[in-house]
Amino acid sequence: MIALLALILSLPAAAAPSADVEARVQELLSKMTLEEKLGQLQQLDGRADGKASPELFDLARTGRLGAVLGVLGSSEINALQRAALENSRLKIPILFGFDVIHGYRTIFPIPLALASSWDPGEVESAARVSAREAEATGLRWMFSPMVDIARDPRWGRVAEGAGEDPYLGSAMARAWVRGYQGDDPSQPGRVAACAKHWVGYGAAEGGRDYGTTEISERTLREIYFPPFKAAVDAGALTLMSAFNDLDGVPSTANRFTLTDVLRGEWKFSGFVVSDYNAVHELINHGVAQDGAQAAARALTAGVDMEMVSRDYAQNLPELVRAGAVPLSAVDEAVRRILRVKFELGLFERPYADPAREDAELLSAASRAAARRAAERSLVLLQNDGGVLPLSKSLKTVAVIGPLAVDRAALLGSWSGEGRPADAASVADAVRAALPGARVIASTGGAIGSLSDADIQSASEAARAADAAIVVLGESADMSGEASARSSLDLPGRQLELARAAAAAGKPVVAVALNGRPLTLAPLLSTVPAVLEAWQPGTEGAAAVAAALFGDANPGGHLTMTFPRSTGQIPIYYDHKNGGRPASESDHFTSKYIDGPWTPQFPFGWGLSYTTFTLSGLSVTPAVAAPGATAIVRVEVSNDGARAGDAVVQLYLRRRFAEVTRPVAELKGFSRVGLKSGESRVVEFALGPAELGFLGADMKFSEPPGDYEITVGTSSVGGLTARLTVGGRR
Ligand code: BGC
Repeated sequence: MIALLALILSLPAAAAPSADVEARVQELLSKMTLEEKLGQLQQLDGRADGKASPELFDLARTGRLGAVLGVLGSSEINALQRAALENSRLKIPILFGFDVIHGYRTIFPIPLALASSWDPGEVESAARVSAREAEATGLRWMFSPMVDIARDPRWGRVAEGAGEDPYLGSAMARAWVRGYQGDDPSQPGRVAACAKHWVGYGAAEGGRDYGTTEISERTLREIYFPPFKAAVDAGALTLMSAFNDLDGVPSTANRFTLTDVLRGEWKFSGFVVSDYNAVHELINHGVAQDGAQAAARALTAGVDMEMVSRDYAQNLPELVRAGAVPLSAVDEAVRRILRVKFELGLFERPYADPAREDAELLSAASRAAARRAAERSLVLLQNDGGVLPLSKSLKTVAVIGPLAVDRAALLGSWSGEGRPADAASVADAVRAALPGARVIASTGGAIGSLSDADIQSASEAARAADAAIVVLGESADMSGEASARSSLDLPGRQLELARAAAAAGKPVVAVALNGRPLTLAPLLSTVPAVLEAWQPGTEGAAAVAAALFGDANPGGHLTMTFPRSTGQIPIYYDHKNGGRPASESDHFTSKYIDGPWTPQFPFGWGLSYTTFTLSGLSVTPAVAAPGATAIVRVEVSNDGARAGDAVVQLYLRRRFAEVTRPVAELKGFSRVGLKSGESRVVEFALGPAELGFLGADMKFSEPPGDYEITVGTSSVGGLTARLTVGGRR
């Protein structure tokens, strides 16, 4: 219901640009030369030091630069903007973009971690703070959110998205867009969102970045499209086309996705930018012989702006003159870009205010928001014997592992203008949390160069301490773009560190810093407790320490399945049943002969220092007319001794239909904070949007039938009930 309302309220932003904006766009367009038009379609990169090259200034002065990326800081941004506004004939402001993926200067947890909060409000706040910092420097366009569904943790970019589920991914997509753009993206502190990478990019074969994807239309529409649709409906002003080829057609030349779906079906009125150099890479894909063909294919398919490569600017003048590309296609792309510039208020307020830049970056308020987000993103994976939280009266604590002092690992990939020096390390945070204790740090060198001596030192540190905290996982460069891994084991000799610490016979807990699900079985059998901290950002270490010593109670849950081995990939909760579902007792079923088919940790998994009970599941009405909305209620109680957050999750299973349906589909969730002994009733609405699905004809409908509803605190287990639509059992 609420989702539906939000959708209706946000529709005008996506579907109906104002008449005033349209008139201004048209007036400007009518004055532009072809060269000026092509200038608007060009986005170029700043230098590695964040400055603009002399060439960019020249292009700005002559009206041939529509947008840039990676020109940073108010003084450089204002200087380049001034070059455009004071010299070019039509004085069209430049749009400044940057990869602000989980923060600009104050770094929030990676998006996969933020999603683990199961709290769209937390994501919205991270986006709002990031936008405020970035916009204060003159940036008006974030290359975020990445809303690619990811079912393969070998793919390094799973760190940048919300995980494997389209329903949760859609909720997070809406939250990112709202946080960036607000109700009015022209207001100070607001920026344009860019939902990326359109589309299917996360399905790369073998998890290798940029790889080929083969996705059926049903899976595209049911799994990969929904978060993009949610972003568009929430008013996202831009989308980025992806690097992958999709069923034989590169995403950057794909008329079906870029035009038929985006413009035709969804009425998207913003613009599409290519990914970095992706137009030119159509030549590598083998669908264009040269830059001219690449430009023609990308533009006519629906890519409005070209990032970094220059095939549009170099080839479209001739292509248009020769009639090979209609001028109307260029005009339409220009219109879409100008429209966004007007909607951002760029013509009225083109410059940054340096005083605001000083005030906003790394402000106390930004840090506080990042701290809270980090705390709410933590997932307690295992806590045998309740070893966590550790007592604050420990006299001596060992902190072990290279990542315990690796501040860059806390920030993760795509950390904007974040600086490792702004973050306390986990070792520092443990010291701060236990001012009276002796903290022995045994951190060795880098992950890749751990020596026998480092392992020996870990063992000695653990022996000398009352308890040991082993910090392990991945360094910042092991996930993110172009960081696919073929093994998801703990890299290097980190497991040996954990084993050496455990052999000391003291309580040992592990903190994992990583950008993706890992295969943790050997660690889980070595240490009793594992706290998944992801890459938690500038304030992440303090959040980790708070959880380790019980000042915070972890309440995050996984949004991506943790496999037991890489051989299980792809593994995700919303799979189909098949004709021979896995069964222990029957050999001829869908499983492995050399290991379990079940995951290490399922989607939705997360423990707490307290315990929750669900009771009283009801569905009203239990037999509903097609089109009606059923209300599901469940009571959740905290029956442990501490306050904590439960994440109540509702899954649907359609029993029989004309097409096969997943064994479970998330259709509702709620993170509920409860004091010890407290109970609350949680309510979910199931209407046509939740109950409907694509039939064999690819049309969305809600055919009569039976649904099994499971409400739990993970995708495995829970209370079940039935809902019948249309009176047929
Ligand atoms: C990435 C995009 C990013 C762009 C600009 C590309 O390599 O795929 O996600 O926004 O670079 O930096």
